[in-house]
Amino acid sequence: MAQINPSILSADFARLAEEAQAVEGADWLHVDVMDNHFVPNLTLGVPIVESLSRATSTPLDCHLMIEDADRWAPQYVEAGAGSVTFHAEAAAAPVRLAREIRAKGARASMALKPATPIEPYEDLLPELDMLLIMTVEPGFGGQSFLDIMLPKIRRTRELISRHGLELWLQVDGGVSESTIERCAEAGADVFVAGSAVYGAKDPADAVRALRAKADGAIASAGWACGH
Ligand code: DX5
Ligand code: ZN
Repeated sequence: MAQINPSILSADFARLAEEAQAVEGADWLHVDVMDNHFVPNLTLGVPIVESLSRATSTPLDCHLMIEDADRWAPQYVEAGAGSVTFHAEAAAAPVRLAREIRAKGARASMALKPATPIEPYEDLLPELDMLLIMTVEPGFGGQSFLDIMLPKIRRTRELISRHGLELWLQVDGGVSESTIERCAEAGADVFVAGSAVYGAKDPADAVRALRAKADGAIASAGWACGH
């Protein structure tokens, strides 16, 4: 089964609690944390994640686009995130960090920017609960999906199968009704969608439509979804 994670980056930041409640049928709420150093944009930090986690029953999927992830990521677990994603490019000790996130009680996830290959990280995969393949350059919502990431999604799905892992494979950036099936067919099973959900007239409906498309594509794809 596909999981759909709306990104509140495309929501109204003055009404975050209501915006979170508007997608309560979603699996996770994707929270983009940006520090204006790792990416050229600034969003929110620990105090807002803390408040948001009290305002919704949907678990929080925090995507940290910040430098010095080793120092900050554990604080997002303490703030109430159910899943914390750090960038491979921003972590000095990814294995130690993944273990710390898990030990504190959250799912540990690592993200790769478009130009970062998966192959050097093959041996790290058992330490992770999810891998995020960025399908745009991180920093902004509403960008066009990068088709050239499909082979990386495919190769990652092959690695997951070859090692018999239960790792979830998330895609983020430009995911919409017109691109989600390509991602699912290539091997993704967790889908972040910002503008495609919050730009829609009815965000909850948009989540349902994305889920139906992804589920259909997963069912007819050759790879086996573990959840
Ligand atoms: C981009 C963020 C995404 C963003 C996706 O750096 O990581 O989560 O919100 O937005 P859309 O779905 O509009 O591309
Ligand atoms: Zn994101």
